[in-house]
Amino acid sequence: MNHDELNHWSKRAADWARDYHASLRDQPVRPNLGPGEFRARIEGPAPEHPEPIDRIFKDFTRLVPDAMTHWQHPRFFAYFPANAAPVSMLAEQLANAMAAQAMLWQTAPAANEMEALTIDWLRDALGLPGDLTGTIHDSATTATLSAVLTMREQALGHDGLTRGLAGGPVLRLYASAQTHSSVDKAVRLAGIGQDNLVKVPGLEGHETFSMDPEALDSLIEQDKLAGVKPAGVVLCTGGTSIGACDLIGACIDVAHAHGLPVHVDAAWAGSAMICPEFRLLWAGIEKADSVVFNPHKWLGAQFDCAVQFLRDPRPQIATLGLRPHYLETQGADEVVNYNEWTVPLGRRFRALKIWFLIRAEGLSGLRSRIRNHVSWAQEACDAIAALPGFRITTDPILSLFTFRFHDDARTAALLERVNNDGRIYLTQTTHEGSFVIRVQVGQFDCTREDVMMIPTVLKDLSGDL
Ligand SMILES: Cc1ncc(COP(=O)(O)O)c(C=O)c1O
Repeated sequence: MNHDELNHWSKRAADWARDYHASLRDQPVRPNLGPGEFRARIEGPAPEHPEPIDRIFKDFTRLVPDAMTHWQHPRFFAYFPANAAPVSMLAEQLANAMAAQAMLWQTAPAANEMEALTIDWLRDALGLPGDLTGTIHDSATTATLSAVLTMREQALGHDGLTRGLAGGPVLRLYASAQTHSSVDKAVRLAGIGQDNLVKVPGLEGHETFSMDPEALDSLIEQDKLAGVKPAGVVLCTGGTSIGACDLIGACIDVAHAHGLPVHVDAAWAGSAMICPEFRLLWAGIEKADSVVFNPHKWLGAQFDCAVQFLRDPRPQIATLGLRPHYLETQGADEVVNYNEWTVPLGRRFRALKIWFLIRAEGLSGLRSRIRNHVSWAQEACDAIAALPGFRITTDPILSLFTFRFHDDARTAALLERVNNDGRIYLTQTTHEGSFVIRVQVGQFDCTREDVMMIPTVLKDLSGDL
């Protein structure tokens, strides 16, 4: 394919995209298909000779969309959203066309300086202190891994990077059981070890399921007495399972009193903090050393896009940064080279979609969407609570709540029916030992009618269970 053909087929792709999005409401959210079925449809050896693009394109339209779960479907209420506002898709097309490597300032000056600007925009939009800086990663998992590696190196006096971990002290990290598995992954990959991730018990009866700050304090104290080395604390605002929010200020005070850095995972809920009324959920956040949130979840910046704010970037740069001669920018040692803040060297131009998104929707437009989602989630929750046999198991935290239908077996059977039906898509979690169904409202294009389809579908499908 040459660039003229690219131009032609890009227009065809844009037409296809418009029709695809326009038809989503009439499609099942999740395809009705078993493992291996799709591959069987495309099986065959890699072609030795070029094939015409129109044949490939036709095969795509014929085979692929029907075998996809539609994340941009307005009735996608599963997991968390991966919102792609149309304008961020446009920005991605432009970034794709330039296909630049934004690893150093000089390899992509506009990408580099737009990253700094959009980090400032988002920091201010979320009400964070003006002296925080930050960077853009692919995912929250990578941002949390970066923070945990930094905690490890701060605890080891930046010795682990050169000496390795053998013979060093046993390190400990603290998080609640509500934190995402990316924290478990980070301690494993950082060589700290799963057994050294201490899951701090919850605060009895706390309405957003915070860890108990006093328990955190005594666990750190006990570890110090036992001769192991506490390295840091990871807190959550909006945990994946039920939206748990730790008491950020109180937990940070405990951590800081022990000289420990704190990373806050607000991958999903961080977007809601553009609305000042929700900021109580992370009161005290201004004291955090590191905070991650994913504009690619609720805000609308197409996947992938995870922003990490840092109080002081130097410990992370000292952990992740390497500057061999071939990566120096001659005559400009002082420029920010974001690859030194993140794990991979190569970096996509992710700031462009944030820049387009915020300019095209305006912060006020993004705020109204989030406010609508939160209020429609409450409305759907009230309607479900009124259905016979249904019980709300956790009240909405922002736009996430869970419910149950009689017992485990009937709740699981109902979930399967709902997802085979296809009008809406929901997923499950475990709460206090029971199987419960999660509902999160946050898809960029969903309307109140889409959300109120949840109680309608549940009523339709639960009658004879
Ligand atoms: C609270 C939380 N943290 C971290 C993650 C991991 O996000 P990512 O896919 O960006 O690594 C998720 C994913 O849903 C999440 O819900």
